[in-house]
Parts: sequence; C-alpha cells; structure tokens
Amino acid sequence: MSFEIAVLPGDGIGPEVTAAAVAVLKAIGRKHGHAFRFSTHLMGGAAIDATGEPLPAATLDACRRADAILLGAVGGPKWSDPSAKVRPEQGLLALRQELGLYANLRPVRPHPVAMGASPVKPHLLAGVDLLVVRELTGGLYFGEKKRQADRASDLCEYTVHEIERGLRRGFGFARARRGRLASVDKANVLETSRLWRETAIRLGRDEFPDVALEHHLVDSMAMYLISRPRDFDVVVTENLFGDILTDEASLLAGSLGLLPSASLGDGPRGLYEPIHGSAPDIAGRGIANPYATILSAALLLRHSLGLEAEALEIELAVSAALDAGVLTADLAAPGQSVSTQAAADAVLERITQHCQVAELRD
Ligand code: IPM
Ligand code: MG
Repeated sequence: MSFEIAVLPGDGIGPEVTAAAVAVLKAIGRKHGHAFRFSTHLMGGAAIDATGEPLPAATLDACRRADAILLGAVGGPKWSDPSAKVRPEQGLLALRQELGLYANLRPVRPHPVAMGASPVKPHLLAGVDLLVVRELTGGLYFGEKKRQADRASDLCEYTVHEIERGLRRGFGFARARRGRLASVDKANVLETSRLWRETAIRLGRDEFPDVALEHHLVDSMAMYLISRPRDFDVVVTENLFGDILTDEASLLAGSLGLLPSASLGDGPRGLYEPIHGSAPDIAGRGIANPYATILSAALLLRHSLGLEAEALEIELAVSAALDAGVLTADLAAPGQSVSTQAAADAVLERITQHCQVAELRD
C-alpha cells in the first residue's frame, strides 16, 4: 500500500524528534512492504520566519492531500511576545479547525521504568491505563474574542452537534476498551456544561447503554486524576478542560517525553504529535526524548492508515527499549542518559531484529 505522510517538524526540538519518528516509519515501511511517501512543510515559528504566517497555504494544502500528518512542536521564546499579532500556536489551532480534527486522543499508560520519575506515588500508578478524549475545535478556544482597553472576553459556545460528535468518540473508544466513560464538565456553573451533561446522558441511554457512564465536575476530576487514576478508562471532556487535564495526566507517565497524541475528524486523516512542547532550552542538542513522537507515529499507523499490527510493533519496540534502560535525560539517572539518536536506534534495532526473526520463520 502507498501512503502520503506530511511532516511538519516545527520549532525547537520538533525537527529532532520528527526525524527519529520518520526513520522508524521508514523501517516499518521497508519491513512490511508499504510505500510511505514523506513531504516536509513549514509550520509554526519556522513558518512565521520564512513566510510571515504560522500555517502557510502551501502547508495546509499539503496536509489536505496527505493521508496523515506528523507534527513535531510549535512555539518558542522568539515568538512568544503576548502582544504579537502572529503566533506559532495560531497555526496549530487553524490546522485543527481547517481539517475538522475535533477529537484529540491522549492515552496515558505509565511504563514501569518511568514510574519513579513521576511525582505521584508508584502504588497509585500501577495498572493505570487511561485515554483522554478532548474536544478540540470548539469552546473557548474558538469562540468570539473581544478586547477593549479595560476588559476582555472569550465566548464559550458549543452546539449539540459539536458535543455529540466529541462524546461519540469517547463512548466508542470506551466500548472498544473496558466499557467505562467518565464525562467531565462544570455543570454546576456553566450552561455549556449543562448541555454537555444532558447530551452525554442522552447518548449513553440511546446509543451506548452497554457503556458505564459517570459524570465528574472538572475540579474534582483534577483531584481524582492524581488520587485514583486507576479508576478511569476513557475520560471525555471539552476543549479547555481537556487541555488542562491532559497536562495533569501526563504527570502520571513520569515524563512528557513519553506521551503521544492523535487528533481525528470524521475521515481517516489525522494529525499526530507528541504532547510535549518545543522545549527550546534543549533544542539542537540531540538530547530530546523521541519516544513520544515515535509513539505518535504508531497512532498514525493505527488510526489513519489502518495498520494495527505495525502500530503495535512500534509500541512494543519502544516498551522494550525502555525495559532495557535506554533512557534520555528526562528519565535517566544522572550520567546514564542516551542521545535522541541512540534512543531512536534502540527502537529501530528492535524492529529490525523482529524482522530478521520473522524472515527466518518464513
Ligand atoms: C496542546 C497545546 C495547545 C493547546 C497550544 C499550543 C495551543 O497546549 O496541544 O495541548 O492549548 O491546545
Ligand atoms: Mg496543552
């Protein structure tokens, strides 16, 4: 099979981690006989520098033509003046909106090696396996913004259609996993949250009676994610709550450097990115953790290209590299860390080793 993958390295450590993930995808493609065609495009601060815009039309066109998009990270101090009219993050928000990527998946399953690196006690982390589904193209992020000298406002608006499609993804994933969905809102205060909760109750009753649905207010959920993370299977919530809760949930995994994400719409095309940012402080030094981007590439194979076995193979290879203690500076004991390249090589070696074993079997 032949697939087009648009690569948007972006800023900071983005180019380093996407290069590692592309190498892994190439190895998987060679091994399984898939032709992955990669094209690289400007995005974020790098695009502002080159063209004045964070998401140039050529980049958006290439993303529309692609089967899937792999993104590194956007942003950095150079472009972070709050009064700037053009910001790298606008490119990311525009891309999500233009491609209709309304469901953001952020799976969190702490690997034993990384547990020691989490500020949460290890006994609370054992057995944690949760998936946050964040609504990605509505709410405060995209509502009307107003600014006067002495006041400002951001409109939080949701239609039933937007809520339903986000919730359906949450219910669907819950059904395919352990059958439990926690819907998070602030229904004691916000009208949009009351609509969210009513819609969740209705969908649960009419379309997903087999899924056990519970509701949590976002403030209590912020506590539960740390005090009893094992109790959750799929968590679904609106855009801003999801932004905040997923950064919090990332603490469970020990390092931001291990967490992938997928942003999906109605069709197979998706955007895949690590949830860590551009980490300008370590950019260009070859020490960034590439595993989150490599795991994002696995999600790309699973959700956009329908290559489940290949996705699993990458996930197992990363897990084996972690088991073997191949750890970048964010996870390793002082003096024990390996480079981005060495971590990527450890994954590649495991993919090729399995390949040789498979070839022997044939
Ligand atoms: C994320 C990021 C983005 C967001 C920023 C960079 C606009 O924090 O993907 O979670 O707020 O959605
Ligand atoms: Mg965020």
